[in-house]
Amino acid sequence: MFKSSTTAVPEGLAVPRHIAIIMDGNGRWATKRLLPRVAGHVKGVEAVRGVVEACVERGVEYLTLFAFSSENWRRPAEEVSLLMRLFVTALEREVSKMHANNIRLKVVGDLSRFDAKLQDMIAAAERRTANNSRLTVSVCANYGGRWDIMQATSKMVAANPGVTDYTEEMLAPHLAMAYAPEPDLFIRTGGEERISNFLLWQLAYSELYFTQTFWPDFTKASLDEAIGSFQNRERRFGQTGDQVAKKTNA
Ligand code: IPE
Ligand code: IPE
Ligand code: MG
Repeated sequence: MFKSSTTAVPEGLAVPRHIAIIMDGNGRWATKRLLPRVAGHVKGVEAVRGVVEACVERGVEYLTLFAFSSENWRRPAEEVSLLMRLFVTALEREVSKMHANNIRLKVVGDLSRFDAKLQDMIAAAERRTANNSRLTVSVCANYGGRWDIMQATSKMVAANPGVTDYTEEMLAPHLAMAYAPEPDLFIRTGGEERISNFLLWQLAYSELYFTQTFWPDFTKASLDEAIGSFQNRERRFGQTGDQVAKKTNA
């Protein structure tokens, strides 16, 4: 099977190189079962494990997961602190396994707001897995698409003194995920059909896939369904359907 690229029209039946997911519906999954919301987050971590495995098996190169948005600080303090604790536990438990499976871990977002211990753990996990090449898992934490564009803009301006005309090509290298191609496939679970300040710049040409399935119920089979839907789409990148069929890459 061919791997798609986000700069050119991909071959049919390509496995997406980069899948980005808003893992939503943990709270409702728990509430439906009369459990506390945190039980949904705990179960959600298990779903992450399955999807990471599936991506390795299917040959996906980049998996990006929205774990905590810059707006999620507005949740009740006890839910926020439980989520932080869960993040620490997940790092403690999963990093060795990821490393053993040749998986690189990146944590993307404004990490300065996390406590020092968590920041150290993140830095250590990134360092340890930096040279792994099978799959890059990016966890977006205290991430916001607008924050990303603004921090990249500040860096671009600082890097180009005296310049007044800026281009997209000058901004792109400063975005938090400059190390990855743009997502081919965006998935949001939990039934909402919105972007919620996720990767605003990078999703310009991603195929969007929404499912009612709550994140804790999202399995390898659910991922395959999303990939199947992706494979039935025609990505045109501004061209006509005819041009795409004839592969005239103007
Ligand atoms: C997504 O599930 C996980 C996080 C935002 C951390 P939610 O917690 O948003 O679950 P719902 O949307 O309330 O069901
Ligand atoms: C988006 O989910 C953020 C994450 C999944 C981390 P939310 O549940 O916070 O989004 P809204 O508030 O429903 O838009
Ligand atoms: Mg939600």
